[in-house]
Amino acid sequence: MQIFLDDRMVDESEAMVSVYDHGFLYGDGIYETMRAYDGVVFRIDEHLERLERSASLIRLKTPGRKYIAGAVLQTLQCNHLRDAYIRVTLSRGKGPIGLDPALCRRPTLVVIAEPFHPYPGKLYEDGVFMVISSVIRNHVRAINPMIKSLNFLNNILAKAEAKDRGAYEAIMLNADGHVTEGTVCNIFFVIDDILCTPSVGAGILDGITRDIVINLAGVLGLTVREGLFSPRDIFGASEVFFTNTTAEVMPVSQIDDTVYHVGSITGRLRAVYRDEVEKYVRAKRSNDVL
Ligand code: PDD
Repeated sequence: MQIFLDDRMVDESEAMVSVYDHGFLYGDGIYETMRAYDGVVFRIDEHLERLERSASLIRLKTPGRKYIAGAVLQTLQCNHLRDAYIRVTLSRGKGPIGLDPALCRRPTLVVIAEPFHPYPGKLYEDGVFMVISSVIRNHVRAINPMIKSLNFLNNILAKAEAKDRGAYEAIMLNADGHVTEGTVCNIFFVIDDILCTPSVGAGILDGITRDIVINLAGVLGLTVREGLFSPRDIFGASEVFFTNTTAEVMPVSQIDDTVYHVGSITGRLRAVYRDEVEKYVRAKRSNDVL
């Protein structure tokens, strides 16, 4: 594959970053994952806006939205990709050993795009098994989960534990015992026909898919409750699903020992999310033609 590195396309075999890059040395940097459908990057503006927010929360100066958008499109084109997984990484850059961000003159920008490999259909039909992790989500005043940071060990430890327990994903609690999110996704559940999801204040990344699903639920006439929830709330739910850019809306069949059916609200939201993607792609295409 061809990779966008700093200011140009290079072959994957030559796309190298310095061992002095602070992203490598300290996990000092941020990223975004995007998905392209038929050559259109879904909600690119929201992803770039969140990248800018993550950058500002770690005091990192970015090359700007327009530049990064150009890099993303160039990477797709160079690799002749239409349905793609896109990863934009922006690290603090190369600098001498030391934590001071000022040691690095220029951030390192990397854009990787790969063909999108759809999740197995069986996962959407049957749902996935999750566990409540013993690993606590980063406190908002430690590394705020709103920063989509390269410093991913918090999530990696939870994921490793989930794997040990035979689960697909982990749900992390905050230090007060409230449900936050998965290692790479947001969590939704249905209690008495109300769609519930942890609020940003619980300490989560405010997912772009989450936001779309909340809006679509409103359009469907569902009541949505964002708040603080305990594992007990989620164990009492009738349906559970998770959301993220790559999986979209994914049903959950089990959390620890509690089993759930793949319910109709999850099914409806999954369908309207798909419609939303198609609408977006069509609108962007007709704009291109005009
Ligand atoms: N993960 N929470 C966490 C911790 C995440 O890493 C992600 C995204 C989400 C969902 O955000 P969105 O709907 O904007 O994708 C929530 C991406 C997919 C990743 O890490 O690759």
